[in-house]
Amino acid sequence: MNNTKARRLSILTLASLALLTGCSLMPVGNTEIPDEGSAGADAYRSRCGSCHALPHPQRLSYAGWQRLLPIMEQRIQERGMAPISSKERDTLLTYLKAYSR
Ligand code: HEC
Repeated sequence: MNNTKARRLSILTLASLALLTGCSLMPVGNTEIPDEGSAGADAYRSRCGSCHALPHPQRLSYAGWQRLLPIMEQRIQERGMAPISSKERDTLLTYLKAYSR
């Protein structure tokens, strides 16, 4: 194996390591969600799709979303991101209530 090949391999290894660790939560903005373009869908997309792929609202029951939201708010705080305001929380929960399973 020549040097260039070896170097390329190690870059690949590093990249996959990054993928397996923190960076597996890369934003993937292409999940299709209901009521696209509404205030609720926009808030949901912008607040919930930046660390990981946007989960479809049907993934959980409304009770499940209510339980999960504070955990996500904790993750947001841990990363020093702007906290979800109470108004935003209302918007998100109204949206999730309408489209949860
Ligand atoms: C600051 C980054 C961040 C943001 C923003 C974020 N999440 Fe998460 N989310 C995580 C992490 C990290 C996990 C992995 C589980 C854990 O650490 O609690 C996760 C996991 C999840 C899961 C999987 C939980 C499971 O048990 O399978 C769902 C669903 C989810 N998030 C929904 C949301 C929703 C809804 C929002 C918006 C309110 C949101 N996330 C915003 C970081 C984030």
